[in-house]
Amino acid sequence: MKSSAAPTRLFVCTAQKSEVGKEVAKALKVELKKQGLKNLFSGGEKRKTRVQTCNCLDLCKHCKKGPGAALIMYPEGTVYGDVKPKDAADIVREHLGEGRVIKRLLIE
Ligand code: FES
Repeated sequence: MKSSAAPTRLFVCTAQKSEVGKEVAKALKVELKKQGLKNLFSGGEKRKTRVQTCNCLDLCKHCKKGPGAALIMYPEGTVYGDVKPKDAADIVREHLGEGRVIKRLLIE
């Protein structure tokens, strides 16, 4: 049996007072389903994508700078900041679907 690749995990900070992180995580899950990208095929292997909420990512200066949340893509390590629910569609389509980093959200 062929083994699946390790999942891509999106860790979304939910430590903001506004709880925008929870909304971002919810929107990402909806978009993954909508765009059919919960299971990606990369290099002939099936790769699942999981959205997980987490506590402070220690990127608060970015969370505080704008009304959005910080998130980290694991294992690749891309860090996005000031992410709002309306950015979820772009993150799923451009980053996960097309493999393009979204420069306007990049913070590290
Ligand atoms: S409050 Fe979001 S990284 Fe700390």
